[in-house]
Amino acid sequence: MKQTILVTGGAGYIGSHTCVELLASGYDIVVVDNFSNSKPAVLDRVGQISGQEFPWYEIDVRDRAALARVFGKHRFSGVLHCAGVKSIAEAQRDPLKYYQHNLEASLTLLEEMAERGLKRLVFSSSATVYGECTQIPYREESPLKPNTVYGRSKMVVEDVLHDLASADESWRIAILRYFNPVGAHPSGLIGEDPNGTPNNLMPYICQVAVGKQAELAIFGHDYPTPDGTGVRDYLHVADLAEGHVRALDYLGRETGLVTFNLGTGRGYSVLEVVRAFEHASGRAIPFRYAPRRSGDLASYYADTSRAANTLDWRAKRSLGEMCADAWRWQSKNPGGYA
Ligand code: WQD
Repeated sequence: MKQTILVTGGAGYIGSHTCVELLASGYDIVVVDNFSNSKPAVLDRVGQISGQEFPWYEIDVRDRAALARVFGKHRFSGVLHCAGVKSIAEAQRDPLKYYQHNLEASLTLLEEMAERGLKRLVFSSSATVYGECTQIPYREESPLKPNTVYGRSKMVVEDVLHDLASADESWRIAILRYFNPVGAHPSGLIGEDPNGTPNNLMPYICQVAVGKQAELAIFGHDYPTPDGTGVRDYLHVADLAEGHVRALDYLGRETGLVTFNLGTGRGYSVLEVVRAFEHASGRAIPFRYAPRRSGDLASYYADTSRAANTLDWRAKRSLGEMCADAWRWQSKNPGGYA
């Protein structure tokens, strides 16, 4: 009997790639999404890549009655909770929205799961919960001092999950802290399609490459890093998707709560990413140096040993593949899914 997994936010960037990987790994899926930052067309593409159809519902996870109807129609054996709002800048301007959306969606989902006796959950968290941590690489036990509202909204949900797992030992919960997911499915059919001007490095570079943006502003070149630009742990979204499946498999065997860093364990600077992208795409990426972006840290990357030892998961794809796949997606879909 195939297991059916509910994927919240399944039309989003991470969710859609994870859906492809779940289907390829023999799971059935049901997607819910409110399409606030994604489009239904994404799900057609997931179906096209997978050669499989699956049910999906346009609902907001905070809508308990709508969620209950979906739970009433299917028998789930686990949930991947990827739905959430994720703009660092918007969260600073509108903290209530971020606590409201990210907390209420999680609480509503957990209440529904608890009521149905379904206690297997993979939660999308972020390395941003570490904030200004003194020890690099970040380990899962590193102290959490998120320096943004967005980061705190993720940390609070992590706290709720810890309390839940302490109160009831039958929960099976994996918290996944993503580092910097980039790239796209190698088919070029799905990828990252941000609304408006991209905030993140790789989608911005992609838009420069297709001429939608004139040049990249590199935020800071006086950091204490080898070339002065910020260093991050970029990982291919397909590796990240595989990490979700490994975590879900693990929760089929084990109870309790466990947190995993998902990254490659090595950092690249902004300039290294620009050079790798130019090499992969054959396009020049004009850039200028700009002041540091508020809240940015100089350098961080993951200690990935727990995911390697416990899940037998390692990010395999190189920076060159991340850039080549991001470029394939962007060049085939210059206007995104529109
Ligand atoms: C990477 C590097 C920038 C844009 C954020 C969130 C994190 C996660 C991913 C979660 C930094 C530099 C960027 C640009 C630049 N999201 N940069 N010019 O800030 O590491 O992580 O997004 O859900 O939680 O914190 O990612 O891609 O924005 O930046 O120079 O136009 O690129 O300064 O050094 P970041 P990023």
